[in-house]
Amino acid sequence: MTFDRIVDRIERSGEIPTIGPVATEVLRLAGDPDADFRAVGQTIVRDPALAARVLRVANSPFYGVRGEVGTVDRAVALLGLAETRNIVLSVSVIRDFSGTLGENGFDWERFWEHSSGVGLIAQALTRLLRLPLGGYEYSAGLLHDVGKILLGHHFPEEFARALERAREAGIPLEQAEQEVFRTDHARLGDWLAGRWSFPEPLRDGLAWHHHPAQAGNHRVLASVIQVADALAKAKCIGFGGDHMAVCLGDTEGWGVLAEERPELAEVDLARFTFQLDEEVDAARRLLREARGT
Ligand SMILES: [Fe+2]
Ligand SMILES: [Fe+2]
Repeated sequence: MTFDRIVDRIERSGEIPTIGPVATEVLRLAGDPDADFRAVGQTIVRDPALAARVLRVANSPFYGVRGEVGTVDRAVALLGLAETRNIVLSVSVIRDFSGTLGENGFDWERFWEHSSGVGLIAQALTRLLRLPLGGYEYSAGLLHDVGKILLGHHFPEEFARALERAREAGIPLEQAEQEVFRTDHARLGDWLAGRWSFPEPLRDGLAWHHHPAQAGNHRVLASVIQVADALAKAKCIGFGGDHMAVCLGDTEGWGVLAEERPELAEVDLARFTFQLDEEVDAARRLLREARGT
């Protein structure tokens, strides 16, 4: 198999996953510095199921205003733009994809836990290091492994073989995919992001999450995703397809971030991951509330 033949077969099947109009719009607004609460609120109310979730989170005990937030506009103002965006994206992306996940022995529930975990860690990392990433860090984390869904859906047997190979040989899944498919989920994610007309930083963040130093202008974002991916695996948040534990300092992404933020060398890693844990825990609680699980 080659990349071209894989893409050809996916295209001919007519089953290319789509991403809902509300999620698309919210992604667009993420990169728009002039976007305001009202624009985001107006987008959300077009999808009543989503609007109900956003209201539910705003009324959760976490915010201490239980039962008092009656409109989406107020909910968005209370939650803030970043939090609202995360909820909308997670709920709608996971919902849009649920029909695409076949029986191939892969635990998609834990896959999404891994994906949103990477998004949340990426966001916490960006905040702690004060990196100017334009708000794409959560969405890039949430979607970084989306190519696995394409492989799992269209090539269930081969994908199961790649998973098995990664497990047996103790190699990263992308390496096992290269052996089986002669391409990997990052390349397919890039292709899908192109079809969905994703903003460029987001697309590069997905495409280069295993080789962030090659991501040109978006190498810092791609690095944040690689480091967040490694941290999510180290902390056993969900399951992305392999159990590879990597030494953080050895990743390409850590090198890029250390260049960008020299103080990283001085960072107390134990304290840093503790701070990350706190941020991630709070955000995870909210996401769970949004999904009603
Ligand atoms: Fe990956
Ligand atoms: Fe991953």
